[in-house]
Amino acid sequence: MIYLDNAATSWPKPDCVNEAMTRFLRDVGASPGRSAHRLANDAERIRFDAREGIAALLGVSDPLRIVFTLNATSALNIVIQGLLSPGAHVVTTGIEHNAVLRPLRMLEQRGVSISIAPCDRDGGMDAAVVDDLIRAETRLIVANHASNVSGTLLPIRQIGERARARGIPFLVDAAQTAGSLPINLDAENIDVLAFTGHKSLLGPTGTGGLAIHDDVDVGCLPPLICGGTGSRSEQQVQPDFLPDKYEGGTPNSVGLAGLAASVRYVLDRGVETIRAHEKRLTGRLIEGLGRIPRITVVGPGDPVRQTAIVSFMIEGQSCSDVALALDEQFEIMCRPGLHCAPLAHSSLGTLHDGTVRFAPGPHTTEGDIDQAIAAVERLAGADA
Ligand SMILES: Cc1ncc(COP(=O)(O)O)c(C=O)c1O
Repeated sequence: MIYLDNAATSWPKPDCVNEAMTRFLRDVGASPGRSAHRLANDAERIRFDAREGIAALLGVSDPLRIVFTLNATSALNIVIQGLLSPGAHVVTTGIEHNAVLRPLRMLEQRGVSISIAPCDRDGGMDAAVVDDLIRAETRLIVANHASNVSGTLLPIRQIGERARARGIPFLVDAAQTAGSLPINLDAENIDVLAFTGHKSLLGPTGTGGLAIHDDVDVGCLPPLICGGTGSRSEQQVQPDFLPDKYEGGTPNSVGLAGLAASVRYVLDRGVETIRAHEKRLTGRLIEGLGRIPRITVVGPGDPVRQTAIVSFMIEGQSCSDVALALDEQFEIMCRPGLHCAPLAHSSLGTLHDGTVRFAPGPHTTEGDIDQAIAAVERLAGADA
């Protein structure tokens, strides 16, 4: 079997992740931050280990500025819903995932106004466009780091520069890049970054969170969910310090044990090394698919300007039929359709039927890529 659906969720996970989760369930099991016994202390140490790993990966000096949530969606919602009240204005881009757009559209019905920076046919954009969209009431700029449809990288640093110059909080959706691309919050001018644990961080589903820049004051960002944290239990109101402010409720401790292990794995292997491997595979895919008649490859077509995602269509064939045939005839797993990102498809000109998306990962080999290209060639009838 060849798994090319790493943009949905990465698989297989490194063995250390499976082992850490089994060990946690078998030997620890307790809830972190809640009790003082040794098992609870072990659970807290493991959770802190995960915070330290993510902080190291993203260049955040204080691990307590890493907030854990269930996924990138809940992390994005904390910031989007927390910062935007009726009358506020937000700037976003034409390549966003529904994890950003749906909360924004909900808030729009409550009186928030939205400006969308247009993207070109490759999914890219000129950061300078943002200057014209900012208004006196702009309370947030939110941008995708890389499209989950085309892999296109947005000019995050330059957008962040503009946000910083105007004193507007800048939120980055790094669901597709945390773990597969070097990121440093300070260097990239990012105030808050939302990550997910189950994609390039190679952890389990049910993990994700926010990384908050060391200089950002969260005083004006209320929590979305309030509840028990194990801290300040004498108070009936939510603690106002990080990370407890945004971590009400029992956490996914077994997931965080897996995430702690997966982040160590990523750090040990090296994000630069993973990026170089994925760049090679992406280049090979673009080149191989691009040679096949009746195939259209969507996006930049340049591994430097995109992540390890290559979307394509076969002329005259529906994307879901192609993906089904790839699974049934060639045991190749991929995702067709709109990928929860209709606006991105609209920008890319592929809204009608979507695309077939190949997303290799750190465990994909060049042989896998060659087999995938050969399978598409067969389906396109190019070797008939
Ligand atoms: C660009 C992007 N943003 C956000 C998300 C949401 O991530 P999660 O499902 O982990 O909340 C995804 C997931 O596909 C994504 O690709």
